[in-house]
Amino acid sequence: MGRFTGKTGLVMGVASDHSIAWAISQALLAEDARLAFTYLPFQSNERRVRQLLEPLAPDMLVPCDVRKDDDIAQAFATLGQTYDRIDFLLHSIAFAPPDELKKPYVETSRAAWHLAMDASVYSLVATSRAAAPLMTQGGAILTISYFGGEKVIPGYNLMGVCKAALEHSVRYLAWDLGRQAIRVNALSAGPMRTISSAGITGFDELRDYAAHKAPLRRNVEPEDLGRAGVYLLGDDASGVTGEIVHVDCGFNVLGL
Ligand SMILES: NC(=O)c1ccc[n+]([C@@H]2O[C@H](COP(=O)([O-])OP(=O)(O)OC[C@H]3O[C@@H](n4cnc5c(N)ncnc54)[C@H](O)[C@@H]3O)[C@@H](O)[C@H]2O)c1
Repeated sequence: MGRFTGKTGLVMGVASDHSIAWAISQALLAEDARLAFTYLPFQSNERRVRQLLEPLAPDMLVPCDVRKDDDIAQAFATLGQTYDRIDFLLHSIAFAPPDELKKPYVETSRAAWHLAMDASVYSLVATSRAAAPLMTQGGAILTISYFGGEKVIPGYNLMGVCKAALEHSVRYLAWDLGRQAIRVNALSAGPMRTISSAGITGFDELRDYAAHKAPLRRNVEPEDLGRAGVYLLGDDASGVTGEIVHVDCGFNVLGL
């Protein structure tokens, strides 16, 4: 029997087999979780995600652009029709226009700032609000952050400011939803090569640097994130909420 036997959750943010959401999903499935999925309905993304997820025969695989209230309402209505209740939500979503990320933060346009905050931060608020009524026996919500929300990582720019807002949203959501026995945490992941990270200038250098400098002298592997995701979404973390848990081989403890 797995640690998630009898538990059901929604995973938002699988785009490929390199996605952090995929790594955590694999670990959850290995613990016997039942998973429903949403994906961004964008031509090439939709094809890739369906090819990856359909073989798992999930109970639910529906489109959801988190910038659209109607999409969120529809996805969670389908979720409520599919299951009596859910136990967890994995929010592994972020977006900023790649051209804007290449600019110094001081050059960020108003439109890009709003778009990035909407897709990367408000989406956690909106999906947590939609998920809470389905978590009738309590639950766990997990989002994915990065150290660039705490310290300046040149090149991370606008997304760093989004991650700072995301991390503080986690704390406020933990307060609001704690009275319903719903825990809200963030996993602050070390750098991983994914579709999203390809948009960050100097990402490969950053990854090489982290591999040499981190206390564990390596970068994170998908399995590191999977195991931490299982911990934070499961009963082993029953007393943990409002936390930003670093899974970065210790990189964040360095001063120099
Ligand atoms: N890759 C890294 O190095 C790293 C490190 C720390 C944190 N993160 C964070 O992990 C999370 C997942 O990213 P990833 O690296 O796995 O990349 P990814 O590209 O595999 O996943 C990003 C997901 O966000 C989804 N998305 C973007 N805009 C959306 C929208 N409007 N509606 C619905 N979905 C939308 C994409 O479809 C994709 O599934 C992000 O929050 C990212 O910032 C990544």
